Amino acid sequence: MDNIVILDCGSQFTQLIARRVRELKVHSEILPWDVSLERVKERSPRGIIISGGPMSVTDADAPSVPEGLFGLGIPVLGVCYGMQLITRMMGGHVTSGTAREYGRTGISAKGDSLLFREVPSSFEVWMSHGDHIESLAPGFRLAAETLKGVPAAMENPEKGIWGLQFHPEVVHTQFGTKILSNFLFSVCSCTPDWDLGDWIEKMTGEIREKVGDDRVICGLSGGVDSSVAAVLTARAVGDRLDCIFVNNGLLRLNEAEEVLEQYSKLSLKVHYVDASETFLNALSGVTDPERKRKIIGETFIRVFEKEAAKFEDAKWLLQGTLYPDVIESGHKGKNASVIKSHHNVGGLPDDMKLLVLEPLRDLFKDEVRATGRLLGVPGTIISRQPFPGPGLAVRCLGEITEPRLDTLRQADAIFREEIAEWEEYPSIWQAFAVLLPVKTVGVMGDSRTYSEVAVLRAVESHDGMTADWVRVPYEILDRTARRICNEVKGVNRVALDVTSKPPSTIEWE
Ligand code: XMP
Repeated sequence: MDNIVILDCGSQFTQLIARRVRELKVHSEILPWDVSLERVKERSPRGIIISGGPMSVTDADAPSVPEGLFGLGIPVLGVCYGMQLITRMMGGHVTSGTAREYGRTGISAKGDSLLFREVPSSFEVWMSHGDHIESLAPGFRLAAETLKGVPAAMENPEKGIWGLQFHPEVVHTQFGTKILSNFLFSVCSCTPDWDLGDWIEKMTGEIREKVGDDRVICGLSGGVDSSVAAVLTARAVGDRLDCIFVNNGLLRLNEAEEVLEQYSKLSLKVHYVDASETFLNALSGVTDPERKRKIIGETFIRVFEKEAAKFEDAKWLLQGTLYPDVIESGHKGKNASVIKSHHNVGGLPDDMKLLVLEPLRDLFKDEVRATGRLLGVPGTIISRQPFPGPGLAVRCLGEITEPRLDTLRQADAIFREEIAEWEEYPSIWQAFAVLLPVKTVGVMGDSRTYSEVAVLRAVESHDGMTADWVRVPYEILDRTARRICNEVKGVNRVALDVTSKPPSTIEWE
């Protein structure tokens, strides 16, 4: 299988480059910019892409690439920062400031670069750079320039080095996919052989070989990752996979029943554990968001360990880890502050003395969904909106009690039912209700009421890192608010959350 290595210099678009390459049916992987040359060689790439990045190549501690990379005889494409880095490393000149270009820009191609094969001579691209190339490195030829006369693409075919000042991976760049495809197929002579059907066959064989006659256990959450991992593994080891589904008492209306019904159709062996009482007891009287998260994470581990111990002969723990979780980034983690301590079903203790099986660790989320479809996982699981590990606890602000959770469940179900009617619903990242521990005065019939407030939150997002609130039609909001106040005891006022992330977060706690 052909492989493209992407050296990550910290751009927010690095993963997007990797996904675009895979969409063109060529396998790609991301390595940090400070990886050793040996490690790059071990991966036997057909081509190397150096990503963009937030820094200036003129900064003292700016990312660089391994010494000797350009002498490997493997084609290299530098994107944005990558192109500037190549220029600087090979003796050209990059300057800061003056010709800043952000957003859409027109460019025109010069000459007949392989990268621009079957692409018009003028088109629009997406730029995002403060620095620009003042003079190309010796041996390089200008392949395109912007309307301001700034180099937009360069090449040195003799050395097999190419550069794009713009981002071919973003949708706003016209012919971006064609340009990447030209790099993969015309420059690197890749074969488009990355195919998820083949991958499923290969991975099924690998799991069989690894696990042998052992038994595997896994925690199911109802979400797409753990479900696809389980179905794939069951395909390989049959009934030697035991799945544990823990109801933490913080699930949505009828969720446990619905999830179990879905799983029963998938012929998975699922052991249902209703630990609601244990979780709610542990959370009793707790109002601090971080304490709630910690308690839920720890309680989950205790419950899971106890259940897992019932499968004495299990050797393996299956986890739904995805590629974005394993990518080593040169910058990841630096200066990162903990906003929320995340709890995932996958987040189990290190001392569980089980070997970890992570069959999806090479896939992006959209590939996991496509794999799930190929494996016959129902659409309701595949297109399920993300639901946080701590469940309704982070949406039921203040103290968590059974009656308050019931109130929230009903309000949330009404909102989701109403908004699901909207044709834009499939493009929504998450839509849910939040219950505030704030009482306000209302009037119903002729009587005064004094009840809590429900907030409606609907957001659009690509990865949960940033988000914007969805402009839900007034009619839907109106119907939802009326129904909640009429049908849900304990709520007499409905509000709408109109903040993006940042400055807010998607969940309220
Ligand atoms: P925030 O609230 O941080 O959420 O903007 C970003 C995305 O992550 C989900 N989320 C979680 N997912 N365990 C999870 O598996 C968690 O502890 C957790 N907390 C938040 C949230 O629903 C949103 O999609």
